[in-house]
Amino acid sequence: MRRLAAALAGLLVVGGVAVALSLEPARADSHDLEPGSIERGARLYQAGCATCHGDSGEGVDGWPPIVNAGEASADFQLRTGRMPYAQERGQQAQRKPPAYGEQEIRDLVAFVASLGDGPAIPEVTLDPALLSPGQRLFASNCAPCHGASGNGGALGGGAIAWPLTDAPPLIVAEAMITGPGQMPIFDWPQEDLNATVTYVEYLRSAPSPGGFSIGGIGPVPEGLVAWFVGMAALAAVVYLVGREWDRTGDGG
Ligand code: HEC
Ligand code: HEC
Repeated sequence: MRRLAAALAGLLVVGGVAVALSLEPARADSHDLEPGSIERGARLYQAGCATCHGDSGEGVDGWPPIVNAGEASADFQLRTGRMPYAQERGQQAQRKPPAYGEQEIRDLVAFVASLGDGPAIPEVTLDPALLSPGQRLFASNCAPCHGASGNGGALGGGAIAWPLTDAPPLIVAEAMITGPGQMPIFDWPQEDLNATVTYVEYLRSAPSPGGFSIGGIGPVPEGLVAWFVGMAALAAVVYLVGREWDRTGDGG
């Protein structure tokens, strides 16, 4: 009886963590443009981005062009606070709290997307059934830079492969399809993308993050069961919040 109670409590905790995490990335996909969004984005862009990226994204003074960066890259760069860039030229863009609010980010993303022809914000589905292929994909493609448990690692030239602890599912997918900084692009089939993102989310919400070894899914069956429950709740919440957003047009 005690054990059952303890197990149930564990389920609630992990489920709660998963649900709390899910509120962060939960947003409807931004494919339907809101009226006025590009125009509002253009004004923000002129004030905060054009000095480096040029009036039409062509890049000025040796700063990089972003004509074909697309929605996905703009969304990633703004949500992780990397843009606006605030370092000495040549340094890795720093991750910091976002400089813009939710609506401003959506407007800036709409404007950057309107400049050219880059990748759209990807769709991702978290699917616990893909956990083990996700682990394999992660181990051979991501762990070499980000570490086996996603805790990050140093690359040459002072750059770091950022820890994945603060990267919600959409940010992971956006990083994969846009390859920020020194990270390569992983333009994979949808199922492989889903699998990898699911595994990263597992790493992030595992009971003791980073505390299990490679291949360590086996020894923690209770944690895994709890995680599955959390994932189901998470998927439901992501869906519901996405719906809500569609209706109100405001992610809050
Ligand atoms: C001080 C100069 C500077 C400013 C201001 C700046 N950026 Fe950047 N931007 C950069 C640099 C440098 C990079 C390349 C960073 C890297 O290699 O990670 C970059 C990269 C980007 C990328 C990724 C390009 C790609 O190929 O995927 C996007 C998108 C972007 N910036 C958008 C913006 C937006 C939107 C703003 C305004 C909110 C902005 N930037 C403000 C210098 C700047
Ligand atoms: C060659 C090394 C390398 C590989 C391989 C690599 N990354 Fe990265 N990754 C980086 C670097 C470097 C950054 C930081 C880029 C920057 O700051 O501009 C990064 C950033 C990220 C971020 C952003 C984290 C944040 O919170 O801002 C995510 C998410 C990510 N990588 C996921 C992955 C996934 C998933 C894979 C495997 C499919 C992968 N990476 C493979 C080097 C790598």
